[in-house]
This record gives sequence, C-alpha cells and structure tokens, in this order.
Amino acid sequence: MQPIISISGLGKRYASGFKALTNIDLDIYPGEIFALLGPNGAGKTTMINIVCGIVNPTEGTVVADGHDIRKDYRAARSKIGLVPQELATDAFETVWATVSFSRGLFGKPADPDHIAKTLKALSLWDKKDSKILTLSGGMKRRVMIAKALSHEPKILFLDEPTAGVDVELRRGMWEMVRSLQATGVTVILTTHYIDEAEEMADRIGVINKGELVLVEDKTALMNKFGKKQLTLNLRTRLTSIPAKLADFRLELSADGSELVYAFDPHDDKVGALMKGLNELHIDFTDIRTSQSSLEEIFVSLVRARP
Ligand SMILES: Nc1ncnc2c1ncn2[C@@H]1O[C@H](COP(=O)(O)OP(=O)(O)OP(=O)(O)O)[C@@H](O)[C@H]1O
Ligand SMILES: [Mg+2]
Repeated sequence: MQPIISISGLGKRYASGFKALTNIDLDIYPGEIFALLGPNGAGKTTMINIVCGIVNPTEGTVVADGHDIRKDYRAARSKIGLVPQELATDAFETVWATVSFSRGLFGKPADPDHIAKTLKALSLWDKKDSKILTLSGGMKRRVMIAKALSHEPKILFLDEPTAGVDVELRRGMWEMVRSLQATGVTVILTTHYIDEAEEMADRIGVINKGELVLVEDKTALMNKFGKKQLTLNLRTRLTSIPAKLADFRLELSADGSELVYAFDPHDDKVGALMKGLNELHIDFTDIRTSQSSLEEIFVSLVRARP
C-alpha cells in the first residue's frame, strides 16, 4: 500500500540552535489511526507543524497524498486538517461563522449540510450561534476540531485533542475519530493519555528527544513488551519457595501468603506451574492475572534512553 504521508530524513534546528528533530523517517498509511507518544518537549508538535507547513524543516522531505509539502504546499495543505495544540480561535465570531469561514479558506464551496453534520457530531449544535468567547475550554477545543474538519480533509492531525476535555466527551471524541476512520480519513494524534493511545491507535510511534525511537503495531507492541503476572493467594502460608518450583522464578510475598509469577505472553509454562503446585499440594484460594499496560511499556522505553 502507498503511504498517504511519507516523511524522510526530516530534521529541525530552531533559530535558537536547538535541534528539535533528528532524521525522522515515517510512513503513515491511508485509513490508519497513528498515535505519536513522547514526553513534553520530545518534538511531536514540531513534527506535526512541519507536515502542516507551519514550521520549515531544516532537512528532509514530507509528501502528503502525493504532494511535496514545500514545493506543492497548497495542494498538500488542502488534504490536511489540523487541530493545533494551542487553542487559537476568533473570540468574537460565532461557532457557525468560524467553522464555515475555515472551509472557505481552503477554496471549498459553502456546504451548510457538512458544517451542520460536523457540529452535531461534536455536540456543538446547540452552541452554533454562540460567540466563541462564551464557550468553555473543552467546547473551544471541539470548535477547533470542527474547523479542522470543515474542508473534509483526508488526513487529520490532532495535537492533544482531548487535553482539558471531560471523560464523557473524550469518549464521544474517540467515537467521532473512529467514525472518521470508517469514512477513510487517516488520523495522526498526539496524546499524554496513554489509555487513549491504547484504546484508539492502530500503530504507535514513540518520539523522545527529537528521535523516533519506535514505531510498532499496537497489538504487536503490547505482545512484545507486555508482561503478564499471575498472583496466587495461598491457603497456607509458605516460608520459602519450594525447590521443585525453582525453574519458574517465582516470588513470594513478604508474609508468605502470595506467590507471584511474572511471564511473557508467549510463555506456555503456566500449565506446568499449576501441575507443580498440585503435586506439592499447595492449595490456593484466589488467582489473579494482570498484563502490563501501554503506559508501563512507554515509561520503560522513554526511561531506557537517557
Ligand atoms: N519556536 C521555537 N524555537 C526554539 N525552540 C523551540 C521552538 N518551538 C519548540 N521548541 C523546542 O523544541 C522542542 C520540541 O518542542 P515540541 O513543541 O515539538 O514538543 P512536544 O513533543 O510537542 O511537547 P509537548 O508534549 O509539551 O507538547 C522543545 O524543547 C521546545 O522547547
Ligand atoms: Mg506538543
């Protein structure tokens, strides 16, 4: 499949001399939801701003839907919707006017039906005649999303779309993003809520100190780095781990009441462990399993690279 966005050898040094991005290569495929994760200052917004033509790259190229973003800026930009991290809206305009005006900026003919549909999908319909300055922060962010969708882009960048948005509306936004995906829109989002990436993304990229340190299918990432843990509550406390179970590298809680077995998801020794416990007549009253979350994986990745 041809990528819809192709980034190669991208680097950015700001006028201050600070190197914000180093040699980024990344292909994004049509219809995927790609989450870009990274700590504050990692370079996420810089990368998005370069693709959207707001920041000039120092080196490298970006092609969006077949158009080079520098040589063919207008054509490339018309394919892209951007919800910037910083809220910037015209305070004295109404929601309806500001969103309709955005569409016009891309040279698209007026389409009130499309604007109405977008506002309804973002729960902004009852605010359509309100001035932006009268809206709450979360509502303003949704206006930004409506603006970004006003010209029906094929590619949507969401730079922290749910910062400051309440839990219920976040869920609504996720649904909206999924329905956009269903219509073929490609979505690239950044977020500091790891559960959001875990829930939404098909693929995940981790950026740290200006370098793309990992790009992976989400499920593969969870399988590769995710550890599972099995905890057994023992009927009778143990004073030590029986020698016969040494192979499993178990851990015994300080009070001897819990045995913990950490294993990777491909491990097939759980059955053998159960059999071993049975043979030793070690009985348990409860059993729990847990799997490390994307958050733990992410923290370990970013920490591993000083
Ligand atoms: N105009 C600028 N001039 C100089 N340095 C800048 C400029 N814009 C950003 N930077 C620096 O580049 C680095 C990357 O910033 P960027 O905004 O891309 O990070 P980010 O990953 O989006 O962070 P956050 O999660 O906080 O939004 C930071 O160290 C920032 O201080
Ligand atoms: Mg940012």
